Amino acid sequence: MRPSDIIVVVDYGGQYTHLIARRVRQLRVYSEIVPYHASIERIIRLRPRGLILSGGPRSVYDTNAPKLDKRLLELGIPVLGICYGHQLIAHTLGGKVDRGVGEYGKAMLRILKKDPLFEGLDAEETVWMSHRDQVVKLPESLEALACTENTPIAAFKHKKLPIYGVQFHIEVSHTPKGMKLLENFLYKICECSPSWNPTNMIERIVREIRRSVRANEKVLCAVSGGIDSTTTAVLVHRAIGDRLVTVFVNHGLMRKGEPEYVLKVLRELGLNPIYVDAKDRFLGRLKGIADPEEKRKVIGEEFIRVFEEVAKNIQGIKWLAQGTIYPDVIESGSSSAGAARIKSHHNVGALPEKMGLKLLEPLRYFYKDEVRMIARELGIPEKLIRRHPFPGPGLAVRIIGEVTPEKLRIVREASAIVEEELRRAGLYDDVWQAFAVVGNDTWVGVLGDERRLGHIVIIRIVESVEAMTADWARIPYEVLDRISRRITGEVEGVTMVAYAISSKPPSTIEPC
Ligand code: XMP
Repeated sequence: MRPSDIIVVVDYGGQYTHLIARRVRQLRVYSEIVPYHASIERIIRLRPRGLILSGGPRSVYDTNAPKLDKRLLELGIPVLGICYGHQLIAHTLGGKVDRGVGEYGKAMLRILKKDPLFEGLDAEETVWMSHRDQVVKLPESLEALACTENTPIAAFKHKKLPIYGVQFHIEVSHTPKGMKLLENFLYKICECSPSWNPTNMIERIVREIRRSVRANEKVLCAVSGGIDSTTTAVLVHRAIGDRLVTVFVNHGLMRKGEPEYVLKVLRELGLNPIYVDAKDRFLGRLKGIADPEEKRKVIGEEFIRVFEEVAKNIQGIKWLAQGTIYPDVIESGSSSAGAARIKSHHNVGALPEKMGLKLLEPLRYFYKDEVRMIARELGIPEKLIRRHPFPGPGLAVRIIGEVTPEKLRIVREASAIVEEELRRAGLYDDVWQAFAVVGNDTWVGVLGDERRLGHIVIIRIVESVEAMTADWARIPYEVLDRISRRITGEVEGVTMVAYAISSKPPSTIEPC
């Protein structure tokens, strides 16, 4: 499945590792991430055209600091170290890294020596710094290429080999010429060609599915109407036709009109999903449960149960197709594994093992924006592609406390209004997610001369890139006003609308 030009990004635990890999792909060169402890044999097997060593939170002198296998620098493969990667190369080759003044944010880079890496850059360029340690002395084999006011060795190069280090972050948008620099590294130094195009991979993915799934075997796939599961199902369907069995479980926690819409789209795409109406089962199981984690657990378990029941009645199922995408693959086996789990995400991870099924994950090498490109090419409607992400446990995580039919009605109706008004204002595509939340808190309302207790609805609209961090969206007051008036006017039992203005962190996006 891998194209011939590949860049390997070695992950030293930096927060921008995925961003580096995505930037490389945006420049149409395929990239993969490996953890810093990957063996040199594993890296060589990938036959990379170049290596990029990421940033990381450690100091090269820490006792358990992630190391660099010196032999990687002797292969003749171009290497670019960024931040920690830059320090690590200098340290590994005998240079000296020390605590410096620290530099955070914008800095002015002064280029000291012309180099293909800097082609198209001016003598002075703005760059983004985020470091405390810095390289203070270079070994004989390296020479300085650039400096900033506080960092005398902000970039270096090996005198004989194609090895580079940059202290600044070329991958972030705050380094305006960062992409140019990366492009130079990829095309001029690694001699890659701009060959990566996810949509070209469709035929290859289809062929690979055909090769894996034997003629007498069937594949089962749960589709939710989300982009990942829908694209997965369409790809598998293209490969093996009706030997793909799709299942759509309506857990009763979907958005307004969603089950109908999703079923319609799936049918138009040639899929003919088994529809399971499990609304009552899920609501029954959720009765009396107020704890957020408990709710997620119950929904996950119930989902597996429903799914197993359906699968039991179908002969010949040997595979389970899942919409796993690249960040999920890396997260589960990465060097930064062990980070605290904030919320358990609802998935069917335990299913394949339990049911003795083999896993088919045709999107496991793709980023979300690439999945969108593939989806478009496959004819999946734009409206579905652009829909905001929606959590597996659905509206249950947008109801604080117990899930009751009344709260479910309120949150569903109010969310539909939020989406409608954002679409009408042309803002829907500008934000990451937008929805309503309801809990048990009430507010006294006046209706005519009558006092009436009603629910408080909280509106959450956020901007984000990958949902790891998020900020509340600065929506114009007129739009918020319309949303508020419509909710109190049209949704029975609501007397107050509030707008959530906390970013992530410290809050999460969903309330539960
Ligand atoms: P939080 O609330 O943790 O959410 O800031 C981050 C992103 O993940 C989505 N989310 C989920 N997605 N299953 C999913 O598939 C889940 O259980 C789940 N919980 C949260 C959330 O909507 C946001 O985009």
